Amino acid sequence: MRVLHILPSVALLTSAILSLVQAWDAITESLTNHDNFIIADGYGPERWGCSFRDTEVHESSAGTRITIGKDSDLKPYSCGELIHVEEDLGYGVYSIEMISSNVVGQVTSFFLIANEDTEIDVEITGYNTEIAWMNIWHEQKQNPISINLPFDSSNDWHTYSFEWRKNFVAWSVDGNVVLNRSDIATTPPDEANYRLAINSWTQVNREVNIHWAGHFTYPEYGIPSAQFRNMRYTP
Ligand SMILES: *[C@@H]1O[C@H](CO)[C@@H](O)[C@H](O)[C@H]1NC(C)=O
Repeated sequence: MRVLHILPSVALLTSAILSLVQAWDAITESLTNHDNFIIADGYGPERWGCSFRDTEVHESSAGTRITIGKDSDLKPYSCGELIHVEEDLGYGVYSIEMISSNVVGQVTSFFLIANEDTEIDVEITGYNTEIAWMNIWHEQKQNPISINLPFDSSNDWHTYSFEWRKNFVAWSVDGNVVLNRSDIATTPPDEANYRLAINSWTQVNREVNIHWAGHFTYPEYGIPSAQFRNMRYTP
């Protein structure tokens, strides 16, 4: 009986020590300025139809706007990405408010990324703005699940979040849990450098995933854009 009494307190002590060691810092960004962000400029994955340019990232009192333009000498279009400067993020709750683009072929996304290890995503495509794709990239494999939204995500601000823990990732929309997965492993935070990012980009290659985002063509009127505000991480 003595042993049984000691065991739980050892476990408690261990977890208390671990939580002291893993003192991840919270993030609170209204996104009215980009002081704590690295703005991608001059590159972008080969398979995409755009390269990131800082000219497509706009800051205002209403938040961040990422536009699609033609300001790239490498690709048909230019697009935008912001990566928070804080490194080595860990378990906890990540959230953002977004208004997605409704232009077919344009992707609006919020994601936690440790290159080549794990990525946890919320992605909305202009192909269907009443669906959000909740995805975990792990070991070079995507594991997306589509969630029906009770609204058109391109019409107004909505909050998208995910809670990442050792044994599950649970996504929420406007505070309601919409998906909870324990079937896909993630690389633990102490084994990879996790960072938080937002981006918007275009799908132009008809061979790649075209039924997911659709094929982007530049609209005749207006500037394609995605909006973001209130990015948060609570360890
Ligand atoms: C997700 O599921 C796990 C069990 O698999 C549970 O422990 C956890 O509380 C759930 N998380 C949420 C946010 O519902």
